[in-house]
Amino acid sequence: MPFRIIKGDITKMDTDAIVNAANSSLLGGGGVDGAIHRAAGPELLEECRTLGGCETGRAKITRAYRLPAKFVIHTVGPIWYGGGNGEAEKLASCYRESLRLAEEHGCESVAFPLISAGAYGYPKDQALQVATETVRSFLEDHEMDVSLVIWSREDFAFNRECHRRLLKFLAEGLSEQEADHLMNMERARRAAYMPAPQMAPKPVQASPKATETGESAPKNKKGFLPSRKEKEALQETVFEATQACAPYPAQPSEEMGAVPAGLDDFLHQMDEGFRDMLLRKIDERGITDADCYKAANIDRKLFNKIKNNKDYRPCKSTVLALAVALHLPLSETREMLRKAGFSLSRSTKFDLIVEFFIREGNYDIYQINEALFYFDQKLLGSLN
Ligand code: APR
Repeated sequence: MPFRIIKGDITKMDTDAIVNAANSSLLGGGGVDGAIHRAAGPELLEECRTLGGCETGRAKITRAYRLPAKFVIHTVGPIWYGGGNGEAEKLASCYRESLRLAEEHGCESVAFPLISAGAYGYPKDQALQVATETVRSFLEDHEMDVSLVIWSREDFAFNRECHRRLLKFLAEGLSEQEADHLMNMERARRAAYMPAPQMAPKPVQASPKATETGESAPKNKKGFLPSRKEKEALQETVFEATQACAPYPAQPSEEMGAVPAGLDDFLHQMDEGFRDMLLRKIDERGITDADCYKAANIDRKLFNKIKNNKDYRPCKSTVLALAVALHLPLSETREMLRKAGFSLSRSTKFDLIVEFFIREGNYDIYQINEALFYFDQKLLGSLN
């Protein structure tokens, strides 16, 4: 899995290199800088003294001494002054320069903290976006395992608007008890760590049909979420609309009224296994194998295992990662899962989160994985 988000302590990572969110003196400090220096031992500071400091957005490399990693790449993130001071470009440069140094030193794996998202005050969701976008474009034409190590869940925030809509979708899909637990966790997290995004409950608007007959729209148990019927109707509308503008030409499928050319085609598709459906969908979309596995955030080795062995049994998160990479609509995602021996259920957060993104026509696997990480779920494409 080329890019993963994990919770943990970067000083424990046994990747080839770990990245330090340092200050321009490179002589240590608090936060992750302090943790790395403490774990590496005094030799690290000795070597840093020879570097002559580092400019914001640049990076320098040292040995890692007592750390499990081989190298420490010290980079200096921008201090957040509101966003109008070129902060995003300087932060992106931290990731780019660190990745360049890692590659120059033959590293096959590197771990980052969320640079500038601590003492330097960069808004966490924006810091995450810069990190994932910069890593994603590096991985377009490089092979490296990149981990983003998140020290504590409260340090992590993803796109607010998406977060708000996803919470509503989950609240609808989960049982009342799970939904209440989810909401309470959200409130506690927000109260403790970040300003709550505007998600004040809205009174349910009377639906147009209901106003004709005069009664108000049926309130559901919570009184502020649309009823399940309204939600389904809304989702289908959103779903149809996004399918219409999905980047790949929407493929004819039973659900959209298209019928396979002939009965033998239909029977062939019935017998077709997961692997053959995958390869057929790649051909139909006119993309390469590499386009597919990179969009699925799985590595070439795993993809070739699937491609070369008809009976290879990938795990559910890999099948879903490939379905997302192929921009399959929900019905074809279900079909691909079934062929691999799985189903999409509405009783687990993992499944509901993936379903939410597919219904929204958002096939950005990095964004889906950010949401899965936030809700403490396995990531798409992860093997375990
Ligand atoms: N492992 C992983 N991440 C960590 C760890 C750790 N052991 N410790 C802290 N973090 C996280 C923080 O929670 C935050 O999300 O690293 C992120 C970056 O926070 P800081 O360490 O404060 O770094 P930054 O915001 O870039 O500020 C750099 O702080 O420590 C000083 O000397 C450093 O002056 C520099 C400034």
